[in-house]
Parts: sequence; structure tokens; C-alpha cells
Amino acid sequence: MVLDDVPAPEPGPGEVLIRNRASATNNADLPMLAEADPTHGGTGKESIAGFEYAGEIAAVGSDAGDWKVGDPVMGTFPAAFAQYLVADHRFVLPRPKALAPEVACALPTALLTEFGALTIAGFQSGQSVLSTGASTGIGMIGVQIAKTLGASKIIATTRSTDKKDLLTRLGADTVIVTGKDDHLTRAVLAATDDEGVNVVLDHVAGDTFAACLPATAHDGHVVNIGRLAGPATTIDLDDLSYRHLTVHGVSFGFSRDWETVPILEGLHAQVLPAVGRGDITPVIDTTLNIEQYREAADRLRNGNTVGKIVFTFA
Ligand SMILES: NC(=O)c1ccc[n+]([C@@H]2O[C@H](COP(=O)([O-])OP(=O)(O)OC[C@H]3O[C@@H](n4cnc5c(N)ncnc54)[C@H](OP(=O)(O)O)[C@@H]3O)[C@@H](O)[C@H]2O)c1
Repeated sequence: MVLDDVPAPEPGPGEVLIRNRASATNNADLPMLAEADPTHGGTGKESIAGFEYAGEIAAVGSDAGDWKVGDPVMGTFPAAFAQYLVADHRFVLPRPKALAPEVACALPTALLTEFGALTIAGFQSGQSVLSTGASTGIGMIGVQIAKTLGASKIIATTRSTDKKDLLTRLGADTVIVTGKDDHLTRAVLAATDDEGVNVVLDHVAGDTFAACLPATAHDGHVVNIGRLAGPATTIDLDDLSYRHLTVHGVSFGFSRDWETVPILEGLHAQVLPAVGRGDITPVIDTTLNIEQYREAADRLRNGNTVGKIVFTFA
């Protein structure tokens, strides 16, 4: 990453200009940086990194909805590590007044992804949820959303014993520490009277994904969100067939507005009120000024963060 001065963008039709006050990092920043890094075989092509922002509306393009200059906003959109960015007005979320930008910026990607995954799984109040890699930045928000939406039981996994209490505080009823022995399926069945869970939010993939299938209840839904342990695995198709499972893959992006816009509308109605009340809050590892970008990239790469790294733009 390098820090540079570039002209502020101008909003086109359907776009708003946002004065960004704070941005949060995501695991997805790492492959993007690696792809561009010429010292490690990358393309050398420069672009503005970052996906999450919080600030206020600075200008409104034509046909850009009801936004007004000064409205507090937050959202997820490319080129977010900058003082100014333009975004499609339909992807912008109102920022609850009580939420400071340096907190709000750590929410939008997780809100969209986790609520979107629950929506696609047809999650309903009273159902049980398993979140693998629940200690990820997005996973910790998913646990809180599931709680807010009335999950009967939330089972969370982490590889780190010292994150058990944190996940319990966020709303997990059972925390399984994975990696010691291969017991994920057994532990989930034990926590659900041998029924399995109704919905799986899988951030880990690899063998963990395969282990989730026999831990899912009949007619349940398994949503793959992340592939932290690698994209490949071997599954037993008997687990799918005999349990009548549905498997989904999600990758919420800006190009598939027909998919993302309705999810943002549902999020607005069902989840943002809880964010405004402070019932859903991000876990923030470190807050740095944008000039400390190298430290942020190093922290992101070393993988020992708990929650989000936030940049402020003074
Ligand atoms: N589908 C989508 O639209 C979408 C959107 C956003 C993110 N994602 C994906 O979701 C995943 C999480 O993203 P994030 O930014 O929230 O992550 P993050 O905060 O960087 O997650 C870091 C945590 O992941 C866990 N972890 C790392 N490697 C692991 C492995 N091999 N096996 C199991 N756990 C591992 C570790 O927690 P423990 O030490 O507690 O195990 C680590 O502290 C990423 O794969 C990301 O690409 C997908």
C-alpha cells in the first residue's frame, strides 16, 4: 500500500459523493493487495483499496434518491480507503446518529453479508444457527444479528480458546473450540439433541464445510460465506440427500444489484434499528490514522487481530 494525493471523484447519475471519516479493513483486502503487489509477482496496477466507510453525504448526483448533503451514512463500496468516494446511492446505508464513524465503518460489510446469508437460507425466528469461524470480523456481527432476529440457539466455532468468552458475550449459546480433534459434527449434534442446526453460516470451508453437513437438521440450509481454510473439500452426498439439505454460496457484491438491493432494504427494516439501539456492535481490534497504513497491512497479514482494524481520515 502507498499513500497518495489524488483528485476527489465527482458523483455521476445515481451516485452520491461521500466525505469519508473512517474505513475498516477486511480479509478480502489481502488478496486484493497481493494481486497488485509487483514485488511478489502481482500486476503492479494501482487502484484505491478498501470496501467500508462511514462519514456523511458531501454531494448528490442526479437521480440519486432522497439523500441530502450532510446526511450521516455508512456503507460498503470499492475505493473506500480515501477521504472522498462515490457510491451508488442504493448501496448507501443511513448511519444511526449515535454511532461514531470510527465504529460505524466496521459494520456494513458484515451486516450485508451475514444478514444476506441468513435471508438466502430462509432463516426464521426460532431456528438454530451454527456459525463456523464465528470469531471473524463478519462472523461476530452474524452472531449478534441471529440473536436479534430470534435464533433459538446459536453455536459458534473458533480455533482459539481465549475467544470463547467474547463469543458468549456476543450471544453464542455454545462455543466449540475446533482444531484439537475432529469433533465439530459430534459437538453440534450434542448441543442440539442430535437434531442438528437449521442454518449454517460457514466462514471456514475446507473440511469444516464437510463436517457441517451431518450437523445440519433435515431440510436445513448450509451457506458458504468464506473459505479461510481453503476452497476444496470432499463431501459425503448421503449427508445432503438423506437430510434434504440445501447448499448456497454467497458473494455479495456491487455488480449484482438485483440481489444486493433487496437485502439492503430488509437490513434497513429488520436490523438497523438494533444497530441504532447498540444491540449490534462491531469488535474493533485497533484504530489507526491512515498514515499508519503499513502497520495496518502488517496486522491484517499476521492474522492475530480480534475484530476490525479501523483507519481514520483526519
Ligand atoms: N461472501 C461474502 O460476501 C463475504 C464478505 C466478506 C467476507 N467474506 C469472507 O469471510 C471470511 C471472514 O472475513 P473477515 O474479514 O471477517 O475475517 P477476519 O476478521 O480477518 O478473520 C480472522 C479470523 O479468522 C479465523 N481464521 C483464520 N484462518 C482460519 C482457518 N484456516 N480456519 C479457521 N479459522 C480461521 C481466525 O479466528 P480464530 O483464531 O478464532 O479461529 C482469525 O482470527 C473471509 O474468508 C472473507 O473472504 C465473504
